[in-house]
Amino acid sequence: MEDLGNIRRDYNKFKLDESSINKNPFDQFKIWMDEGLKGDFYEPTAMVISTVNSEGRPSSRVVLLKSYDEHGFVFFTNYLSRKGTDIAFNPYGSLIFYWDKFERQIRIEGKIEKVTPEESKAYYDKRPYTSRIGAWASEQSQPLKSRFTLIRKVVKLMMKHPINVPLPDFWGGYRLVPDEFEFWQGRENRLHDRFRFKLIDTKKWEIERLSP
Ligand SMILES: Cc1cc2nc3c(=O)[nH]c(=O)nc-3n(C[C@H](O)[C@H](O)[C@H](O)COP(=O)(O)O)c2cc1C
Repeated sequence: MEDLGNIRRDYNKFKLDESSINKNPFDQFKIWMDEGLKGDFYEPTAMVISTVNSEGRPSSRVVLLKSYDEHGFVFFTNYLSRKGTDIAFNPYGSLIFYWDKFERQIRIEGKIEKVTPEESKAYYDKRPYTSRIGAWASEQSQPLKSRFTLIRKVVKLMMKHPINVPLPDFWGGYRLVPDEFEFWQGRENRLHDRFRFKLIDTKKWEIERLSP
C-alpha cells in the first residue's frame, strides 16, 4: 500500500499579501471565484457546507454555489434533509471552497437563513424538468428501500406533472450570511499566506494576517 505520508507537494504558484488583497472580502471572493471559473475545474462552484445538529455533532457535504452577493452565498436543497434539520435547530454554518491546482482555500462562516419562496421558485423554474421532478421524488437523507422505489416514484410524478412541476414546499434555497472569511494561499515551505476578515459592527471588515 502506498505510504500517503510520502506524498508531498510544494505550493508556489501565487501569493497573497497586504497590498494585493482586496479590502472587501466579497470583492476578494469574486476575484478568486472568477479565476476559478476560468480555471478549467470540473465544478469550480462546489463548496463544502458544514452544519451542527442538536447534539453538537458537525456534518459536512458538498453543494453547489448558485449565487452570491454582499448579502451572502446561496445554495439549494431539501429543507427536510439532514442539513435542513441541522440548520432549523442551529443556523450557524461554515463553507469551504478549495481549488487544488490554484493552491487556494476560502473559509466562510456565518448564519444561514432561508431565501424567499420567490427566489427559490425563480431558480427552481430554471432547472431542467427531470431535476424538478427529482426534487419531489427524493426524500433527501431518508433511508430508501431500493433504486427501483425511487424510479417508480419518478414515473408516477411525471404522470402527475407532465409539463408544469410546482415548487415543493420542502425544497428551496439557503443563504449563508458571512461574518467571517479566510483566504488561504499556499506558499513555499508551508509558509502559506492567510488573511482573515471579521465583521465588526455589522459594517466594517477587520483584516488580519494569520500564522500558517
Ligand atoms: C459535486 C456535488 C454537488 C452537489 N450539489 C448539491 C446541491 O447543490 N444541493 C444538494 O442538496 N446536494 C448536493 N450534493 C449532494 C450533497 O453532497 C449531499 O449528499 C446531500 O445534499 C444530502 O446531504 P445531507 O444528508 O447532509 O442533508 C452535491 C454533491 C456533490 C458531490
